[in-house]
Amino acid sequence: MPDLYQKARDILIANDRGGYTVPTDRLYPFQWNWDSAFVAMGFAAYDIPRAYQELERLVEGQWSDGMIPHIIFHAPSDTYFPGPSVWRTAHTVPTSGISQPPVFGMAVKHVHDAAIAAGKPDASARTLPLYEAALKWHRWWYAARDPEGTGLVALLHPWESGSDNSPAWDLAMARVPTTTDTVIVRKDLGHVDAAMRPRDEDYKRFIHLVDTYAAFGWDPARQWRGAPFKIAEVQTTAILVKSGEEIEKLARLLGRHEEADEIAAMNALSRKALLAQWRPALRRFVSRDLISGEDIHAPTQAGFIPLLALDLEPAIRDAACEEMKLWSNGMIVAFPSTPKDYAGFEAKRYWRGPSWAIINWLLIDGLNRNDRSDMAEDLRRSTVRAIETNGFAEYFDPLTGEGCGGLDFSWTAAAYIELSGKVA
Ligand code: DGY
Repeated sequence: MPDLYQKARDILIANDRGGYTVPTDRLYPFQWNWDSAFVAMGFAAYDIPRAYQELERLVEGQWSDGMIPHIIFHAPSDTYFPGPSVWRTAHTVPTSGISQPPVFGMAVKHVHDAAIAAGKPDASARTLPLYEAALKWHRWWYAARDPEGTGLVALLHPWESGSDNSPAWDLAMARVPTTTDTVIVRKDLGHVDAAMRPRDEDYKRFIHLVDTYAAFGWDPARQWRGAPFKIAEVQTTAILVKSGEEIEKLARLLGRHEEADEIAAMNALSRKALLAQWRPALRRFVSRDLISGEDIHAPTQAGFIPLLALDLEPAIRDAACEEMKLWSNGMIVAFPSTPKDYAGFEAKRYWRGPSWAIINWLLIDGLNRNDRSDMAEDLRRSTVRAIETNGFAEYFDPLTGEGCGGLDFSWTAAAYIELSGKVA
């Protein structure tokens, strides 16, 4: 076994807190939603019971309305802000009050397939409750985050995107007040250089939104009506559709045919809505600000994530791929979350330029789906090389390759396990 593969496994062990994995020590000391989904897929390569357990522990945080929150506070920690007392939610295992990209459905199917391939006799029995949790969560996305039935699900907080300080939110966030009821005590800056993190002003707006929704009692209908930030978003919708495809397959395998049809209908609606967000002049997909009614033109990785969920006609696919090549040109580590010629680009500041192994994982799957295994293979190699050269960092400076943010990061370890052995 190559050393780095073992190192990736060691990181997952070191970040284990009792059946769930923290993204990294101290900076993120709880269970994060999409992090755990990627981690479960990493575990599936060599420890199927642990892969299931990661997802089961995440579901402990699922709300009765179906939402799986973005953080599950299984055990207290004073190294993170905002903790449970800021969120003020009602769930028994304390959780945050917003969600995160629904990679979960992909992970459940991935773990199930690995269990079947390993000849595990109890695979379907262990998969079933996870499938049911995924279906409940998908229904929640459509009910709570797309109540008008457009097919594009919306985010009510930038943290819900997983891409917290993306330039995509700049215009929408500028309208969010900086006043807060909660006193802001940033803990992240004690762990990571401030130049790699969102700014204080971003935090004021992040927390203004938390205070606003806590005052609505986290009721989805009240939040929808009163949200100061509401983005119908292509990255989240594409991930929802990809997971939707996977849980539709599971529904059929498990004999849940009516549910499979219900899921297929949700997927079809969202695929159509995603396709309508293609902008030929930009050669990418765009999200929509539901408060201003405008397209969001800021260039980010989200514009290409729909490849994951759509079988594109060649003209669209080729245009998207040409644009991706342009963005990757001259980068030591692709794929930049923002292209370097954009005014808002910052090579080390979190989602404003850096490359992320898990985004690459999604893009690789999307490129393979759309018959661009050549580009997928280049991106796979670039990602593996970045980790081998610069370590298991949270993300990478695309211009220098430097590993940034938190170190010994769980999802980068999981991505290495997934990508290092997978040659197209
Ligand atoms: C953070 O605290 O930086 C997280 O990304 C929010 O989920």
